[in-house]
Amino acid sequence: MFDVEKIIRQNILNLKPYSSARDEFKGEASVFLDANENSFGSPVSLPLGEGLNRYPDPFQLELKRKISSIKGVPVQNTFLGNGSDEAIDLLFRIFCEPKVNKVIICPPTYGMYEVSANINDVGVIKINLLPNFELDVERVLEVSPIGGDLEGAKLLFICSPNNPTANSFHADDVELLIQKFPGIVVIDEAYINFSKQKSAIRFLTEYENMVVLQTFSKAWGLAALRLGMAFASQSIIDYMNKVKPPYNINQATQQLAMEALNNIEWVNEHIRETITERANLEEKLKQNPFVEKIYPSDANFILVKVKDAQATYNYLVSLGIIVRDRSKVSLCEGCLRITVGTESENRALLNALKKFQA
Ligand SMILES: Cc1ncc(COP(=O)(O)O)c(C=O)c1O
Repeated sequence: MFDVEKIIRQNILNLKPYSSARDEFKGEASVFLDANENSFGSPVSLPLGEGLNRYPDPFQLELKRKISSIKGVPVQNTFLGNGSDEAIDLLFRIFCEPKVNKVIICPPTYGMYEVSANINDVGVIKINLLPNFELDVERVLEVSPIGGDLEGAKLLFICSPNNPTANSFHADDVELLIQKFPGIVVIDEAYINFSKQKSAIRFLTEYENMVVLQTFSKAWGLAALRLGMAFASQSIIDYMNKVKPPYNINQATQQLAMEALNNIEWVNEHIRETITERANLEEKLKQNPFVEKIYPSDANFILVKVKDAQATYNYLVSLGIIVRDRSKVSLCEGCLRITVGTESENRALLNALKKFQA
């Protein structure tokens, strides 16, 4: 059995977490004079009329129960962060000793893993994806300190579907890495709702050395709320809760996310629409001779290789159409990353590209 405490930093094992007023008294009461809040109210209120003068639930229990009813993951295996980016940063702080431990990432991939590693002074081992954008499982396991003292890599980040390549990795590769990697495997599923693959959440009951990240920023359409989810063994979640700032998810976010979770139909309808629009966009882009390659997408964006990425990017910007230039990223030379837009946004993009090519 995987013993997570063996790889947690000593200062985190010893940490006595901050105890907030809302931790110390949780029951019903009529007069709250324990948290130095403003007893007179607040100058603005939430859409349902609730004031904002009280600190929010530090562990977001009502929201987690609702998420649990949809995802089927128990509340004690769920962490909520100020975006997945907070969960990424916390994992570095919990597991990686600055200047000592390392992380393995598989570029080209989401840029925050490396930025978070740099902020935390954690060395980065890069094992590039293979030219077909699949995981180089052999190389990852070669550099993993099997049976060692884990002075090497304690964390391995896998992003599936991967940003910016848009593909999902083979489930067998991902499971093999979870089985063989001696540290924690973090599977970032920010784009899972657009994918044909099943979530790695299904491995959680079997493996204790993994964390699945999901977010409300993509399919749920709530990027501005900043709400990310991490699912893992209870011991990992307990350490994440111990290290996080006491009130990391604000009351407006907790309440609005609850409302969103009651409107799952909106989300499902727009996932279907995104997938239809993705297929249309792929089809039309294929007809443009300026487009050299369209990589298969399992996400809400497409990676497209064009004849002159920078000139295309600049031309689109001049028309007020912004895509992401990924042409300087290794293995993505000549590529633009295009988010799937609404039908009219996609039409505007396609018309512009047709004119540019002409
Ligand atoms: C793979 C991946 N993970 C995480 C995030 C960030 O998620 P959040 O908005 O929840 O911080 C992004 C954002 O683009 C992403 O592409």
